[in-house]
Amino acid sequence: MMDTDQSLVDLEHRYVMGTFKRLPVTLVEGRGVTVRDSQGREYLDLVAGIAVNVLGHAHPALRRALTEQAGRLIHTSNLYYTEPQVALARKLVELSFPSRVFFANSGAEANEAAIKLARKWGRLRRDGAYEIITTHDAFHGRTLTTVTAGGKDAYSAPFAPLPPGFVHVPYGDLDALRAATTERTVAIMLEPILGEAGVVPPPDGYVRGARAWCDERDLLLILDEIQTGLGRTGRWFAYQHDGIVPDVMTLAKALGGGVPIGACLAGPRADVFEPGDHGSTFGGNPLACAAGVAVLRAIEEEGLVGNSAEMGEHLAASLTGLDGVRQVRGRGLMRSIVFDAPVAREFQSRCLDEGVIVNATDDVTVRLVPPLVISAAEIDEAVQRMKRARA
Ligand SMILES: Cc1ncc(COP(=O)(O)O)c(C=O)c1O
Repeated sequence: MMDTDQSLVDLEHRYVMGTFKRLPVTLVEGRGVTVRDSQGREYLDLVAGIAVNVLGHAHPALRRALTEQAGRLIHTSNLYYTEPQVALARKLVELSFPSRVFFANSGAEANEAAIKLARKWGRLRRDGAYEIITTHDAFHGRTLTTVTAGGKDAYSAPFAPLPPGFVHVPYGDLDALRAATTERTVAIMLEPILGEAGVVPPPDGYVRGARAWCDERDLLLILDEIQTGLGRTGRWFAYQHDGIVPDVMTLAKALGGGVPIGACLAGPRADVFEPGDHGSTFGGNPLACAAGVAVLRAIEEEGLVGNSAEMGEHLAASLTGLDGVRQVRGRGLMRSIVFDAPVAREFQSRCLDEGVIVNATDDVTVRLVPPLVISAAEIDEAVQRMKRARA
């Protein structure tokens, strides 16, 4: 185990609610794929704030955009027009599918917007249908409604009574989606690859099949691309691997490169919010949107979607050489290692000792979602350190 600043840990316990199990390290600064702790030790960061810091740490373009915007206008509320919000919405729509955007401050809030949108659409277009089919093991956020939409009882059951209107089916099973559909069903909400559950891709054709079923039964397809979106899987959006387009898509994580922001995009069919239907004081504020514009530009200019595809293959191939690996899952730079024994948490902690940050999602699975700027040399060095952690 690492030495960490015990006085900070004591103060944290005293003043911060105990909702997180933290690793024993205090991170103080970072540059690119490297972060440094309070003892001056350096780590290769293969978690990137859980798929958030796509440009790595302290990227010059993001720093410049934030500094410039902070010197001009940080916040106005949505009572007025602001340029960065429109610029970011336009860029997102141009990169994805014909749609309009609602801006929020997190992934959970982006999903709340999607759920409210589906319910309003059900009232207007589907005779009051309101039920949303989601999947076991999905993760959609921690607000009361999104935790109910998610597929992990342990996260929701302690907070009952839960909002009604969600039906859960096994992930990857098209027949189960079909069987769960009734007159009450208004939408199907899916992660294109399960993230929090340990990077689990569905069987080929699952997302395409869900799209076809939504068309057949006049349902909305809501894709939660909060983790998979914006280059993570080697395409701008994971739905592009399936050659389909969702009705509603949610984004967050990568969008601000570390600055909190979420977005809900709706195609013309689903775009039914009117003034007063939804809102947010901070959502889409100039600082966060300026960050978003800078992130999207950097992803484009530095070819990071292609880098994600290429480096993802390199990472996956290198990981198969690790001792005790049963499977390497995922796409692009969204990967997981599944071990043949319950060693994931010990591996995570040994990796920290060796100077590499990884994320155990359960006893056998370790998730890797590094910055999209990662190079082959950095991957090779990280894998060497992981091999030492397994020795
Ligand atoms: C697929 C998915 N949806 C929603 C969320 C929730 O996002 P946030 O933590 O920003 O509310 C996450 C976060 O891990 C996620 O991976």
